[in-house]
Amino acid sequence: MTQIGIIGSGAIGAAIARLAVAAGMDVMIANSRGPESLAELIDELGSSAQAGHAEEAAVFGDLLVLAVPLGAYSGLPTAALSGRTILSTGNYYPYREGRIDVLDTLELATAEYEQSLLPESRIVKVFNNIVAHHIPLLADSTPRTALPIAGDDDDAKRLVTEVVEAVGFDVVDAGALAQSWRFEPESGAYTGIYFAGGFDDYLADPGAPLTADQLTRLLAESQRPDVAARAF
Ligand SMILES: NC(=O)c1ccc[n+]([C@@H]2O[C@H](COP(=O)([O-])OP(=O)(O)OC[C@H]3O[C@@H](n4cnc5c(N)ncnc54)[C@H](OP(=O)(O)O)[C@@H]3O)[C@@H](O)[C@H]2O)c1
Repeated sequence: MTQIGIIGSGAIGAAIARLAVAAGMDVMIANSRGPESLAELIDELGSSAQAGHAEEAAVFGDLLVLAVPLGAYSGLPTAALSGRTILSTGNYYPYREGRIDVLDTLELATAEYEQSLLPESRIVKVFNNIVAHHIPLLADSTPRTALPIAGDDDDAKRLVTEVVEAVGFDVVDAGALAQSWRFEPESGAYTGIYFAGGFDDYLADPGAPLTADQLTRLLAESQRPDVAARAF
């Protein structure tokens, strides 16, 4: 049985935890406030979920889902994450993390920056280009909805692909971490591609399935965003 650790119990971490439990996986979830703060979520998730400290979730099971802002990386249990496969959902939003020079200059894509902060781990980028409330709405959709994935380690990418497919999505390989800008904010394969309508009534949008063929085309046509101009 697949077991996954999750650090980050916010919108994305909780959404992935719900899908993982529904797919029959065991989950340990952690946040910054400690296991006691997760009682309500664990109650909702049921007996295959448990709360832990970040150090425990980091080493739990087959892989770690990291669903935290970039600014949280300095507080992560780096030693425990050594050698681990990490499914990273993170994006760079300067309003939240402040300006990061290597991202603004396009020297690195966000996922490469994360990999540089955790050099002993194997970062795989996925679930960063879909808004949290679309995750349950589009899991197991008909037709199946595809998510892009990027990573430098083939074994890590294979493992993450298996998990993403098991929780209800197809996967399109966008290449190495250096290619992950293709589905960063403001690129041609970011969150808007899963909206049924516009952004006006954002949370009421039911989501629209996007097939692997459609996503493959969008990734190929995607243009690198001008990150330095990002205001949000
Ligand atoms: N929300 C979306 O629709 C969406 C979509 C795609 C990608 N993303 C990206 O995914 C990442 C997470 O987003 P989110 O919306 O889920 O964020 P969120 O709702 O703000 O949740 C962030 C989580 O990270 C935890 N955290 C922060 N610092 C930590 C630390 N040092 N150790 C352990 N846990 C820590 C927080 O703990 P506490 O709960 O204790 O504060 C919280 O549970 C971000 O990079 C975001 O841009 C978000």
